[in-house]
Amino acid sequence: MGKRIVVVGGTGHIGRMLVERLLHRAQAVVVASPSTGVDAASGVGLTEALSGADVVIDVSNSPRVDGDTALEFFTRTTRRLLEAERTAGVQHHLALSIVGADAVVEDGYFAAKHAQEQVIADSGMPSTILRSTQFFEFARSIAEWNTVADTIHLPATTVRPVAAGDVADALAALALEEPAGVLELAGPESMHLGSFVGRVLLSDHDPRYVVEDEGARANGFNIDAARLAPLEIDLTGTTALADWIASMHHALRAERS
Ligand SMILES: NC(=O)c1ccc[n+]([C@@H]2O[C@H](COP(=O)([O-])OP(=O)(O)OC[C@H]3O[C@@H](n4cnc5c(N)ncnc54)[C@H](OP(=O)(O)O)[C@@H]3O)[C@@H](O)[C@H]2O)c1
Repeated sequence: MGKRIVVVGGTGHIGRMLVERLLHRAQAVVVASPSTGVDAASGVGLTEALSGADVVIDVSNSPRVDGDTALEFFTRTTRRLLEAERTAGVQHHLALSIVGADAVVEDGYFAAKHAQEQVIADSGMPSTILRSTQFFEFARSIAEWNTVADTIHLPATTVRPVAAGDVADALAALALEEPAGVLELAGPESMHLGSFVGRVLLSDHDPRYVVEDEGARANGFNIDAARLAPLEIDLTGTTALADWIASMHHALRAERS
């Protein structure tokens, strides 16, 4: 028999892909986000949304990514969710976090994700935390945050970004399994951060240059390369960056025709 699964943040980038995959697997899905009348920060609509739920998947995101706002958002919403889950008899809390959450202490957003993980661990709730590396789509945000004039300065860091679709696949599979603790997911290929961002911008016909600069400190991507060493990885996405770029162009052409 299928499970009843609440997707908190089910209207977001990952959330929409995840809901599609869960429905494809014939699960009963509740999409819970402010735009569907469920606010995990204030608690509005939570009791009704969680009624009869077996699993809650949290793929919500803070409205702003600065450290203070993110810390307040992730700790408040996670506490509220876990409290409501306990009352509703939910069996499994599954949350999406970020590779480096436990290590990149100097970045406010990563620290906020770490605090979210701590709230889950301290609650004693049966849980899975899936830490993912950056989504391919995130290349555009990294570019925005690190552009000076028409040049993007990035450190010589090696990364293993992943297709958001692969993250959604992994979450959909984990939701149907027993709670598994902390797992890490990365894409199938290691590449230089500059090459990652440059290839996505080139495919967007974006004219900005990417410059690799030993001294640069990338905003939004302060991960020490060593932190992404393959040894840490439990799950590997299957989509190569080139295939993701090709499928993005295919989808755009299909939309226009
Ligand atoms: N970007 C990356 O590369 C990356 C890598 C690893 C992990 N992650 C994690 O992935 C998660 C999802 O990211 P995303 O890019 O898919 O997010 P997103 O597209 O910004 O979507 C955010 C979602 O959160 C919902 N939301 C906002 N406030 C809420 C609240 N008070 N209560 C309930 N839901 C709320 C939004 O609902 P509305 O639509 O109704 O506003 C929306 O569905 C984040 O936790 C992030 O840390 C991201």
